[in-house]
Amino acid sequence: MGDKGFIREAFRNRRLLGVAVIAAIGGFLFGYDTGVIGGALLFMKKDLHLRTHGQQQLTVAILLLGAVTGALISGWLADKISRRRTKMISGSVYVTGAIGCALAQSYWQILAGRFWLGLAVGTASFVSPMYIAELTPPRIRGGVVSFNQLMVTSGILVAYIVDWGFAPLSNNWRWMFALGAVPGATLAIGMYFMPFSPRWLVEKGRDDEARQVLERYRFGEDDVDEEIAEIKKVSETEASLRDLIAKGVRRMLLVGIGLAVFQQIVGINTVIYYAPTILKFAGQHNTGALTQSVYIGCTNVFFTIVAILFLDRLGRKFFLITGTCVLTASLIGLGLFFESASVRHALPWLALACLLTYIMGFAVGLGPVFWLMISEIFPLQMRGPAMAVCTMFNWGLNFAISYTFLTLTSAITKQGTFWLYAGFGVAAVVFFITVVPETKDRSLEQIQADLGADADVALSRDDAGAADEAATARSGGG
Ligand code: BGC
Repeated sequence: MGDKGFIREAFRNRRLLGVAVIAAIGGFLFGYDTGVIGGALLFMKKDLHLRTHGQQQLTVAILLLGAVTGALISGWLADKISRRRTKMISGSVYVTGAIGCALAQSYWQILAGRFWLGLAVGTASFVSPMYIAELTPPRIRGGVVSFNQLMVTSGILVAYIVDWGFAPLSNNWRWMFALGAVPGATLAIGMYFMPFSPRWLVEKGRDDEARQVLERYRFGEDDVDEEIAEIKKVSETEASLRDLIAKGVRRMLLVGIGLAVFQQIVGINTVIYYAPTILKFAGQHNTGALTQSVYIGCTNVFFTIVAILFLDRLGRKFFLITGTCVLTASLIGLGLFFESASVRHALPWLALACLLTYIMGFAVGLGPVFWLMISEIFPLQMRGPAMAVCTMFNWGLNFAISYTFLTLTSAITKQGTFWLYAGFGVAAVVFFITVVPETKDRSLEQIQADLGADADVALSRDDAGAADEAATARSGGG
């Protein structure tokens, strides 16, 4: 589907858009709570006596351990008590976590608060796109899934603006955390008024309610009965986690986990969490570093919008490859900046320029495409568990990279660290070219065939193919 089609269709379907906006507040908070620490850390270090690199790193990274745990629990919770109630709980966890972090008086209290927040972040990263995707008609699903990433980047930007706004006032890092309670409460209360996912309702045998939900969010041209029949067929052949290592699915899992790993090991979150620290390394003062972080946040949002508009035209691989080449070149430039005093002297703006081009490359490529592709490459029946596995790899590697960043800069120098990430960038490009399939304009069945699905997943191919053909037919071949 082209960009015009997506915008027109999404605008026509305002009721659904409203649900997507409320649900994606979870994505917004994922961005806010991961982004806010960069600025807060500059000031809380003194108040909470975070003296060592280890303590500072763990304050940043413990949220990610919470997120791994949250992703694990929410996969189960979303099936058990519904996506909607899971999201209400995660909104409440966001509120209590924000207040807990704002009131923390010691290192251990801030660690506990950040871990608690992480549970909600891990839940949001998984259940928000899942819930939105299950409500959305197939023809606009790609754009709407990436809309969640737009909310993630908007959350990061707002966190930077809040950090920047509060810094000169009173260095009040407590308010930076406390403000996250507002969207958290909006999510918890807002989800109370939202419908259950029709897929979850069918799984629970509540077909009539599922029909009512679909009738409310579909237009005349959509065949609700056909959609219910598809969901029923798929849910009757639900695959288990064990099926994930079946021969025919291994290549898909390799692609999903590979994307999850590369999205993190190119060092995105050293930039997102430590941008002000990196800019301080490059000679900025606290407030200047926070102002420049806002430029980084704006660039991230702007280029995510570019990706949403053009991903379906130019293809996922095009953006993955060019975006990752751009970010790799920026990492090499950043390394040169720290390596050579004469470069720093002659080109003092180079560090910021490299961070901006880095984030541009990530925002059009690995940022949205990882979350989009893991929702496209797996057969319908095992999409849930397979996405959960990829999500856990993503948060686990996020933890490993951000936890080791400051230590690495001391151990192998700043330039060595950025060049190491650049090396991972080169490996990522080779992986995209040789292993990752193009999913633009391809049906699920074609994608699975490209990835070598065999008899082991014959049931998946048949059902997913049938569901996909029906979806294609409904959307007029789009
Ligand atoms: C990644 C996050 C990252 C964010 C930055 C997301 O796709 O999963 O780890 O912080 O993009 O925009």
